[in-house]
Parts: sequence; C-alpha cells; structure tokens
Amino acid sequence: MRLILLGLPGAGKGTQAKILAGRQGLLHVSTGDMFRDAAAEGTALGTRAQEYMTAGQLVPDEVTIGMLLERIAKPDAQVGLMLDGFPRTLPQAEALDRALAEQGSEIDAVLYIKVPEDELMERLTGRWSCPQCGAIYHTQSKPPQVAEVCDECGAALTQRADDQPATVQARLDTNREWTEQLAQYYRAQGKLHEVDGTGSPESITGRLLEALQGVSLQGRKA
Ligand code: AP5
Repeated sequence: MRLILLGLPGAGKGTQAKILAGRQGLLHVSTGDMFRDAAAEGTALGTRAQEYMTAGQLVPDEVTIGMLLERIAKPDAQVGLMLDGFPRTLPQAEALDRALAEQGSEIDAVLYIKVPEDELMERLTGRWSCPQCGAIYHTQSKPPQVAEVCDECGAALTQRADDQPATVQARLDTNREWTEQLAQYYRAQGKLHEVDGTGSPESITGRLLEALQGVSLQGRKA
C-alpha cells in the first residue's frame, strides 16, 4: 500500500504516520525529517534546506523531488509507503505519479487531516520532539512523564526552530493554497479521504483506519 498523509503544518501528520506505518507495516518517509537530518549532518543539501525551513518556506522542487524519489526507490521502500509532508506542490505530486507509474504502481489513498488554523498554532508552539528517536510531545496534550526528557529513549527533548509563532504563521501561509490544490488533484483521481483532525490522537487514528478500510475493500472488489 502507498499512502499520503496530507495536511497543514501541525495537523498531526507525523504523529499519525508513526502509528499507522507501524500498524500497516509501511515505511514512514518524512521529507521534513530528511531535511532536518541533512541539516544536522551539515551536508550541502541540509544547509540549503535549513535556510528555507527557517523562513517557513518550501524547499525548491528540484531539490525535494530528487531526494524523495531516490529514497522511495530503495529496497526497504518496496514494502509500502506512508508519505508524510510529500507531495507539497503540484509538480511534486505529478513527479511522484510518474515515478510510481514507471514502477507499475500508484498511490492508493490520500488521507487529508483537517484541523482549524487557530488550533494548529497552539499545537506547533507547544511541540517538543526527541532528536534521537523522533517521538513527538506537546506541553498540554501529550507531556512527557519527566519535563523535557523523552519517555521512549531518555534523550533531552528539543523544540524546532521553525515552531516560533512568526515562522508557524509563515508556514501556514506558504502551505494553505498548495494543500487545497493537492486535495483537488487527488479528489479528481478519486483517492482523497478527508478526515476530521480534531479530538484525541487515538480518535483520529480510528478515523484514519476507518478510511483505509474502505480503500482495502475497494481494492478487493476491483
Ligand atoms: P515538516 O517537518 O513536514 O513540517 P510540517 O508539514 O510543517 O508539519 P509538522 O511536522 O510541523 O506537523 P505535523 O502535521 O507532522 O504535526 P505533528 O504530528 O508533529 O516540514 C518542515 C519544513 O521542511 C517545511 O516547512 C519545508 O521548509 C520543508 N519541507 C518538508 N517537506 C517538503 C516538501 N515536500 N517540499 C518542500 N519543502 C518541504 O503534531 C504537531 C503537534 O501537535 C505535536 O506537538 C503533537 O503532539 C500535537 N498533536 C498531534 N495530534 C494532536 C491532537 N490530535 N490533539 C492535540 N495535539 C496534537
């Protein structure tokens, strides 16, 4: 199965992708994580990407598309994909469709997690994450047992530089129109599933799994 999680910054893509990829046996691929890893390693790609991320802008397509297509061509990606944060522009979506078609495959479903923007601001400015294992926390909705320490691996939690209020606003402004255009692109393909992203993370996982059940049923009927 090849799935896309679509949604504005803070909609819960990372939180849900980790759960769903584990349950469905899919490889979780986050372009945001790939850029942050590259920046931490100090590679040329990472340094370039960091400038865009800090400004709340998208990393240019010519960099992003090549990086993602290279990653999903690797053997471990053949088990199935949970794409988180890609595609983010129409050229990215079209390039992905072309690359998958060349392998004789396609995207099975796009899960669009929808959350009101005022809640997104609150979620992102309160987020803490683990630089070691990737676990995601929130000061209010998912605090760690010990402040600023990861429950999973004990590493010190960090806040993302792009989660400052002004940068969050820039990220929302950058992504709003593209996200709607992508929703329209996949709606036209009959692959879009809109899911209410408010409520507890567990209830949202339930809604996403319900949407996926429909996808497998359609597949079996075909
Ligand atoms: P990326 O890392 O992908 O950031 P994003 O899309 O802005 O999304 P986030 O990771 O901020 O949020 P999320 O939806 O994953 O939410 P999360 O689960 O963490 O990209 C970063 C940057 O990289 C981009 O700005 C861009 O510069 C660049 N980039 C990446 N991909 C690119 C691409 N394809 N093209 C070009 N540039 C690209 O949850 C957020 C918080 O809310 C957490 O604290 C969490 O605990 C909490 N939370 C989650 N669910 C709930 C809930 N149900 N109720 C309450 N709180 C919740």
